[in-house]
Amino acid sequence: MNQRLSILALLTALLSLGGCGDQASSSASQPTASQPTAATITAAVPRQPAALRQDTLTVRRPDAAQVARGRRVYQANCAVCHGPNGKGTADWNKPGPSGKYPPPPLDDSAHAWHHPTVMLRQVIRQGSPGGQGDMPPWQGKLSRQEISDAVAYITSLWSDKVYALWYRQVEHRPRR
Ligand code: HEC
Repeated sequence: MNQRLSILALLTALLSLGGCGDQASSSASQPTASQPTAATITAAVPRQPAALRQDTLTVRRPDAAQVARGRRVYQANCAVCHGPNGKGTADWNKPGPSGKYPPPPLDDSAHAWHHPTVMLRQVIRQGSPGGQGDMPPWQGKLSRQEISDAVAYITSLWSDKVYALWYRQVEHRPRR
């Protein structure tokens, strides 16, 4: 994909954020973290004033103590499926023999970073939508705080560039 197309693809993906449950259809066209950079995105959106204002938002990472707590929650409960460093399973975007999807990476190589915290917490609380996949629900097993800490840890796996893009365009999504 050339640069211009990949920027369009990312913008399309960002505009359609919110319904990422359909992995099969979304994974083919969605960009990976390695394609457009935050700089190329910034260059692509100057005609949208809300997005432009967002570029000045100071990006904040969760504090180190929360990330350390989240790492412990993650290693104890999640690493068994999502891998010790959140790299998931090879071929995570193709259904396995059971028709269910394998655990995806939670680092910045898949699409965990396309979701705001509130949605990440929800998928962790509720597990696979409708109980149709293999992600178990954690509500009742992990506290709200532990789930928030796990999300903080997951975001710590993202590069600064991807984190900044997520923080400005997904977590604090500009109003259009
Ligand atoms: C038994 C294996 C398993 C365990 C344990 C597990 N997951 Fe998952 N997880 C999955 C699978 C499979 C999916 C894909 C869900 C689907 O296709 O319905 C998933 C999806 C997710 C997603 C959505 C990713 C995206 O790109 O939208 C997040 C976030 C997540 N898991 C976080 C966690 C956290 C945090 C824990 C630990 C508290 C955890 N998972 C434990 C198997 C697991």
